[in-house]
Amino acid sequence: MHNIAVMPGDGTGPEVVREGLKVLAAAAARHDFQYETTDYDFGGDRYLKTGETLPDSAIDELASHDAIFLGAIGHPDVKPGILERGILLKARFALDQYINLRPVKLYPGVQTPIKDKGPEDIDFVVVRENTEGLYVGAGGFLKAGTPDEVAIQESINTRKGTERCIRYAFEYCRERGKENKLTLCGKTNVLNFAHDLWQRAFNEVAAEYPGVTTDYAHVDAICMWFVKNPEWFDVIVTDNMFGDIITDLGAMIQGGMGIAAGGNINPGGVSMFEPIGGSAPKYTGMNIINPMAAIAAVQMMLEVLKEKEAAAAVDRAIAHVTAEKLKSLAVGRTGYSTSEIGDMVAERVREG
Ligand code: IPM
Ligand code: MN
Repeated sequence: MHNIAVMPGDGTGPEVVREGLKVLAAAAARHDFQYETTDYDFGGDRYLKTGETLPDSAIDELASHDAIFLGAIGHPDVKPGILERGILLKARFALDQYINLRPVKLYPGVQTPIKDKGPEDIDFVVVRENTEGLYVGAGGFLKAGTPDEVAIQESINTRKGTERCIRYAFEYCRERGKENKLTLCGKTNVLNFAHDLWQRAFNEVAAEYPGVTTDYAHVDAICMWFVKNPEWFDVIVTDNMFGDIITDLGAMIQGGMGIAAGGNINPGGVSMFEPIGGSAPKYTGMNIINPMAAIAAVQMMLEVLKEKEAAAAVDRAIAHVTAEKLKSLAVGRTGYSTSEIGDMVAERVREG
């Protein structure tokens, strides 16, 4: 029995989560597993009513589940940053979800803005460190609001934190078994402390994985290669801030926010899965947003719950629907409503 916490969140979050759960139900029926869901209403509306983002008591409750399925966080009436830090980043940090896993996979039939590249060229995974770096909130203001103001934002990189992330990436790369190639993405030519530590930890862990070929790319260069030669990549490991940036570029080359999903992974604890596109408030309640990214998040969740067959079936069903049915992934241009897309994927999963 899998106990799944569901946080539909804001805007179109609930609509896409509903379709993700539809596909989860189909997968459970077809592949014989049981699950239970518990809903949590954390998000912008609750914050506006109660002032509460994600209280500590909720962290304990979430931690008692096997996985968390998150819709979207972000509300037009709430100042940017409050919900992101108070809910999303709080969950990642408090639950020690130290990996942000972002597959960049071009499904068949999906348009990529990159000319002459197809699904065989765009299929890699970014392993982003998710609890350190510039995201820790270390720093502060000096002489705030004066002409002499100083703002310091520190990047914290611990040996343990980098090493566990790198080790996860090697393990993941080996298990993925595609090209057994792991690329470290950094900026060693300039960030001579933080990324020196990354490089040394990477080299030491690499010695334990002789079957994995290693490579290195500077973060600026990798942005060029993603566009020019995406087929070069298998698995990439990088720090929190660089990972944030390159995964949005990755999302675009795989067809956009309508398909991009991510997992916030704690390999020894509870992980959280989300479509990465945000809450898209202006489309709320219209049943036109494309739920494929939320369905892809469910696919990732099934992998981590070790429902491998069900995960593979959802992956095939997504590919079937993108290849055979959808005109586009863009909001309002798919040719179907939100719920129809969920129905088509669920039906395909049910049929096997
Ligand atoms: C992501 C998002 C978040 C991040 C924001 C919403 C805080 O962009 O998951 O990539 O920066 O990590
Ligand atoms: Mn991001």
